[in-house]
Amino acid sequence: MANKTQSKSGNRPRSVSKRTAKRRASAAPKLTASTADRHQLYTAAVQNVESEIDFIDETYETLRGKKAKRLREDFCGTAQTSAEWVRRRPTNEAVGLDLDEATLQWGRDHVLSQLTSEQLERLTLKNRDVRDPGKKGQDMDAILAMNFSYNALMVRADLLEYFKAVRKSLAPGGLFFMDCYGGYESLMEQEERRKCEGFTYVWEQVRYNPIDASLDTAIHFEFKDGSAMRDAFTYHWRLWTMPELRDLLLEAGFTKATAYWEGDDGEGGGDGNFQPATEGDADASWIAYIVSEID
Ligand SMILES: C[S@@+](CC[C@H](N)C(=O)[O-])C[C@H]1O[C@@H](n2cnc3c(N)ncnc32)[C@H](O)[C@@H]1O
Repeated sequence: MANKTQSKSGNRPRSVSKRTAKRRASAAPKLTASTADRHQLYTAAVQNVESEIDFIDETYETLRGKKAKRLREDFCGTAQTSAEWVRRRPTNEAVGLDLDEATLQWGRDHVLSQLTSEQLERLTLKNRDVRDPGKKGQDMDAILAMNFSYNALMVRADLLEYFKAVRKSLAPGGLFFMDCYGGYESLMEQEERRKCEGFTYVWEQVRYNPIDASLDTAIHFEFKDGSAMRDAFTYHWRLWTMPELRDLLLEAGFTKATAYWEGDDGEGGGDGNFQPATEGDADASWIAYIVSEID
């Protein structure tokens, strides 16, 4: 199989659907560094919550023979995924957890404000550490840790504590979904650019330390008028490998931690179709999901 060098990975691009791109294009104002909102740019460049929820819905139904209802979005940021979940079906309920109050508030002002009052009643946002999710965050059909945010838990004991807390928060039959990325390009100190509607998204891998696998990254945005928003977002992570993650998930009490590997589009990129796999290719960059369950 050809290398998936165009795959969603090191620069964390989650390519948006044509429908979403059209909606965003028509809404896009003339952007500059001084007028643009970094959360709006992040949403447009990085997130594709519709396809994320499609994957969760389809996988849950395949494994459990019914639809999930209660979803928790860990590291929820502006809660785009939680909002999409309650929009998706009138029986769906969502809980979003994040530590950053300013980001949560942006979500309340710009994302939750677009929901109907009935949808809002089914969505709860909490300023909490994901390792201490509280009563509202229990009894979940699906828990999500997306966009690699768990990499912020850099110490093994902390990540194990988180996975144990997730396991305890799942209802019988509940599933834990996380994404992960890797490939040799993910270890390189480099900048990657991708054109978006009205701006350029830049993913910079600033520093990788092979001794402890710590990785400093930054997101910058560049505009047509020549202005730039440098360090709009910065992350200090440990780049956990897929086998480390799967081992820790089993140690935390999950009985299965299945890798879902992306198919090949025949042109060197991923096809967006993720299936259970025990073997992957040594691609330059790849993104995958891990779906964990308890028998
Ligand atoms: C990369 S953003 C992810 C936003 C969104 N989930 C997405 O898919 O793009 C990471 C978020 O994780 C939050 N975060 C980091 N450590 C956390 C923790 N221990 N508990 C809760 N939230 C945490 C940060 O505040 C930040 O909003």
